[in-house]
Amino acid sequence: MKGICVGMGRRGRSWYKWAQDAGLEVVGVVDINRSILDASCDEHQIPESMRFESIGDAVKGTGAEVATVCAANPDHAACLTQCLDAGVHVIIEKPMVETPEDARMIDLKAREMGLTVAVAQNYRFSPEMRTIREAILRGEIGEIVSVQVTFHRWRPTQGLYLPLLMNQSIHHFDAIRWILDADPDWCFAKSFNPHWNECDGPTVVEAVYGLSNGVVATYSGSYVTQGKNTSYSGSWRVEGSAGQLTFAGSDKDNPVVLSRRDPEEQMELSLLTGDMAGPAQVCREFLNAIENGKRPPTNSADNIKSLSMCWAADVSSRENRIVNFDEFV
Ligand SMILES: NC(=O)c1ccc[n+]([C@@H]2O[C@H](COP(=O)([O-])OP(=O)(O)OC[C@H]3O[C@@H](n4cnc5c(N)ncnc54)[C@H](O)[C@@H]3O)[C@@H](O)[C@H]2O)c1
Repeated sequence: MKGICVGMGRRGRSWYKWAQDAGLEVVGVVDINRSILDASCDEHQIPESMRFESIGDAVKGTGAEVATVCAANPDHAACLTQCLDAGVHVIIEKPMVETPEDARMIDLKAREMGLTVAVAQNYRFSPEMRTIREAILRGEIGEIVSVQVTFHRWRPTQGLYLPLLMNQSIHHFDAIRWILDADPDWCFAKSFNPHWNECDGPTVVEAVYGLSNGVVATYSGSYVTQGKNTSYSGSWRVEGSAGQLTFAGSDKDNPVVLSRRDPEEQMELSLLTGDMAGPAQVCREFLNAIENGKRPPTNSADNIKSLSMCWAADVSSRENRIVNFDEFV
């Protein structure tokens, strides 16, 4: 399948390789910034004939059927609109878009045009999340009661909208839904920016979610920790009627551990590793789905449910109330 890679900035340069690893025949690359376009193309030895400064020109000039998009968050809605108008299926970096209005607009537009929008929620495809999901599906810890995820790092957030929620928590929320095969029902949250830091906020989120299968998920996240970092994956605990799954984070080869109280046992689970990097895997799922006329697992409608966990935390905190998810669907 022929495709173009849009956005050749810091992460976009890697997308050029991930898209090829996933099986895409990359026939064009696009960046509205000529110097970034040329610098990244020179680095990858991409010929002049494959370089474009607009999505429309690239699709016209190459006959591409799909696009990968790796632009900065505020540019996502415009890039998606341009791709759909040009008639191509798209996989875009997270967050799909920043607002519920844009999410609904893009999802509707894609459906009306018979095109697919998918989101590169690569954390879902990490060996640890796949291992936890499979263990839950096998019934290793029985009926699930609760999930706890903690994430604490220092990251300056100047200029970002809902920085922690939109840049980091979106991965964790999407993974919570994925491992449990459940959607959020309600949320109560406090999301704020501690007065002593100069970052744009909210940088801290403390949230509780009720999920459609009765599980309660608690989330504790911070971009302004003054102490020890967790890994980007966060630290996980899943409690069930027959045991517990824990994972302390992906930075130190931490294992996924299954433990039971009675009879007492503790074992490290073998990780379900993939054959390529997470973004390439999520791109391959997208391409397979397009080729087989199916919806990819991280399609726009599905992603709105993960994004809603971000928006709900924000609304709940600002309005000091429990937020019901039918407000966002
Ligand atoms: N999944 C992950 O773990 C992960 C990690 C890091 C970043 N990201 C995401 O990657 C995205 C990009 O981040 P970055 O640091 O590479 O950004 P960046 O600012 O370095 O690069 C974005 C590029 O997109 C180009 N661009 C903007 N609008 C365009 C358009 N209409 N057509 C063509 N090109 C356009 C810009 O000129 C720029 O070169 C962000 O959305 C971020 O959230 C995801």
